[in-house]
Order: sequence, then structure tokens, then C-alpha cells
Amino acid sequence: MSTQVQITRVTTAKIRDMKKKGEKITMLTAYDYPTAVAMDSAGVDIFLVGDSLGMVVLGYDSTLPVTMEDMLHHTKAVCRGTQRAMVIGDMPFMSYQTSVAEGVRNAGRFLQEAGAQAVKLEGGREVAEVTSRIAAAGIPVMAHIGLTPQSVHQLGGYKVQGKGDKAAQRLLEDAKILEEAGAFSIVLECVPKGLAKEITAALEIPTIGIGAGVDCDGQVLVVHDMLGLFERFTPKFVKQYARINDHIREAVEKYCAEVKSGTFPDDAHSFM
Ligand code: KIV
Repeated sequence: MSTQVQITRVTTAKIRDMKKKGEKITMLTAYDYPTAVAMDSAGVDIFLVGDSLGMVVLGYDSTLPVTMEDMLHHTKAVCRGTQRAMVIGDMPFMSYQTSVAEGVRNAGRFLQEAGAQAVKLEGGREVAEVTSRIAAAGIPVMAHIGLTPQSVHQLGGYKVQGKGDKAAQRLLEDAKILEEAGAFSIVLECVPKGLAKEITAALEIPTIGIGAGVDCDGQVLVVHDMLGLFERFTPKFVKQYARINDHIREAVEKYCAEVKSGTFPDDAHSFM
């Protein structure tokens, strides 16, 4: 007799409840099936199929070239490898900025075609209307303020945001507006830790920090950064928990050497 273990999916209700109970929320980016399988068994609460895939997987210089088709392709793979974590599809540049209707339609594609449970989009008060319309369509929305990489050219680079009283006040207001618009949680990227603490205390929805200090309700990192799989640059807020690229290089060098010397394949890896 086989006993099947029932795995319960992390929901928006669970995420909200974790904030109430003071239980920290873990989130990592994911872009493919094998990484999703490994990370799901490690107990990560939320997988973000981030548009950062443009940089760390597809090799672009920014997230701007990433398309809806790229995002859906990778979100489908992550969903196939995930049973427990909530999967969030990141809405790419120009998929929600041109009109509210287009934003709602594209958000729906993440759930209908790819199997995600929620979407994320970047921006403050200027995306409040599209946030509220997507949420009204029954699609949970994670907001994202502070450093919003899709606006890198407007921001003048990848810099800490919310420095100074006026900028801090504006970010706090944006967070409250997005909560009011129906976002179920909000990413705070590259903001001073004191401000992140203040925003976290002011909101009922959970904050997920990246470069925003320890007082957020949860943390997110780009998985390629924390595993040492992306070497072009490492932001200050990234802690490397492994150096996987070193292992890849070592294994591949060994394979090349064994093929060249004729020691691979040996009899154990051949058919007799
Ligand atoms: O695209 C992404 O990976 C993100 C996270 C950095 C929050 O937006």
C-alpha cells in the first residue's frame, strides 16, 4: 500500500497570517524546473519567476528586453517543478504600462497559461489603478517599490532609493496606496533599513526586502546571486551561500581531461 503525502500550497492567506504571527517569509527567484524542484523540497515559501532572468539566465545587460513569452516559458517550467511554494510571475517591461486592460490581460496569462498563483509588478502610485484592476479580477498582486529595475534609465542607475525625508515620505505613501489598491504584499528593494522598518510597521500586508535590512517581514534574493552562479557583479546586499560556478568549472575540467586521456568512458559506463 502506498501512502501519498498531501502537500499544501502556500497561499496569500498563509503569507498574511505569517506577518501576523511574526513568522519570517522566505522568497527566492526561480527560472527552471530542476532548481524549482530542489528549492521546493528545501521549504522556500515563495518562488518569484523574476524578470531578472533577463540578466542572470539570458545574458542581457538589463531586464528591459524580457518579453511576456520569455516570462511565460520560464514560469511554466517553474510551476511544473513546484508543489508547495507559491509561484509568482513577474510582469515584464511594457506588459502593464501601456494600458490597464493590457495589464489585466497579461496578468491573467500568468495564471491561465503558466499556472502561477500571483503576479508582481513594479512601481508606486502610478501603478495603483492597474494593481487594483488586476486584484479585482481575482489575481493576487505583489507590489514592488524602491529600486525598480525596469525604470533604471529614469532612476539614473541601480541606486539606493528613499534617501532623505521627502523621498522617504513618498515611498511610505506609495506603499500605503498600493496596499489600499489591493496588493497582498510588497517588495522593498534597496531602501535604507530604517525606512523599510517604518514601512513594514505601517502596513498590514507583508513587506519582502531585498537590500532593505532585517526588519522586513520576509527576504528575497536572486537565486543565481546567492548560489554563486552569476559572476558579472554581486550587489552589496547579496550573501553568497555557495559558489556553484566553481563546482561546475571543476567538474567540467575533469570531464574534459578524462575524455582527452581516454579514461572516460570506462567499462562501468559502457555496455558490454
Ligand atoms: O526580477 C527579480 O528578480 C525581482 C527581485 C529582485 C525582487 O524583481
